[in-house]
Amino acid sequence: MRQLSILATMAALVAIVYFSCTPKAEDTPSEGKDGPVMREVSEMVSLMFEMEADMKMIRSGLVDDSTYSQVEVNVYKKFFTAKTSKDVKIDSVFVVKGNAFLKELHRLSNTNARDSAFTFFNNAVNACITCHENYCPGPVARIKKLRIE
Ligand code: HEC
Repeated sequence: MRQLSILATMAALVAIVYFSCTPKAEDTPSEGKDGPVMREVSEMVSLMFEMEADMKMIRSGLVDDSTYSQVEVNVYKKFFTAKTSKDVKIDSVFVVKGNAFLKELHRLSNTNARDSAFTFFNNAVNACITCHENYCPGPVARIKKLRIE
């Protein structure tokens, strides 16, 4: 678990530099009085980085381990309560899409069959993407790479 959070932190640090919801996030004119400003990383964004790191770990477990039995999937309790950046609002559509995502994770953690696990994993990744297309299109291409082909 400790290793996981270290991974998530590293991913977050890299991501702070390279990624954001929109390819050009610098559309907040009130900032920048002293040169470049470090972008805001909300509680929701940190949670997303943690989820992304977990998904990568689960993915390599699924792909590499032919003796697969069952994966342990984190339940992201903060999903609907984490503070978002000021331009992101958690509304009813977000909740619907978030529940669809969590449902796939739940299925993933409850299957003993590797084939079904592949399907549920990819469904979960697709659920990430469906939500992102609405709320945060920036990382979509990157999330797509998680899919197991
Ligand atoms: C229900 C909607 C939803 C789902 C599902 C979702 N995300 Fe997100 N994600 C968001 C929102 C909204 C943000 C921006 C939050 C903010 O700015 O505070 C975000 C931010 C991110 C970021 C950070 C982007 C940045 O600001 O640099 C990454 C990376 C990310 N998500 C990956 C994922 C991955 C991987 C999954 C699936 C395992 C996933 N997300 C599932 C809505 C979602």
